[in-house]
Amino acid sequence: IDIRPATVDDLLSMQNCNLMNLPENYQMKYYIYHALSWPQLSYVAEDHKGRIVGYVLAKMEEESGEVPHGHITSLSVMRNWRRLGLAEKLMSQAQKAMAEAFQAQYVSLHVRKSNRAALQLYRDTLKFTCYDIEKSYYADGEDAYAMRKQLIGED
Ligand code: ACO
Repeated sequence: IDIRPATVDDLLSMQNCNLMNLPENYQMKYYIYHALSWPQLSYVAEDHKGRIVGYVLAKMEEESGEVPHGHITSLSVMRNWRRLGLAEKLMSQAQKAMAEAFQAQYVSLHVRKSNRAALQLYRDTLKFTCYDIEKSYYADGEDAYAMRKQLIGED
């Protein structure tokens, strides 16, 4: 499995992967917006036949007056390819690129309270911490943990 930066040619496959794996889905223009604005930050996992089996869709937050920080819009890995370390690798690549290309001080994301696999990945493997609970963040009313991880200047 190859982990490489996502290109515009990957966006349909990423959208398909997202539709298979998550209830939070986005219009194609939102994928294009990510790819054109922050081409360094999104990555795909590709099998030996060139099929996209996982992706991380990432961006920078651009509120003025705040320190620059990255955000993970969406991460998923196809069922048959899970527990191989792909999500961890995709996340590490995105985090590294955020710090190097955009001086991101930290990276943030939202995750469902009930999403045990993702929570374990973020908290235990990647060392994110929960800094807030956003009530009814998701369309079905479920709460989100807002999580963060420091990337630069952690001393
Ligand atoms: N149960 C418990 N711990 C898990 C699980 C699980 N099912 N999956 C991953 N982890 C933890 C483990 O600590 C694991 O290390 P280990 O295998 O050595 O024990 C570590 O995370 C690394 O796991 P990876 O193999 O890198 O994770 P994977 O490639 O399987 O992808 C993911 C994890 C993305 C959560 C996958 O299960 C998935 O696609 N789920 C559905 C979509 C989803 O929930 N995406 C995240 C939504 S939040 C967001 O997008 C910001």
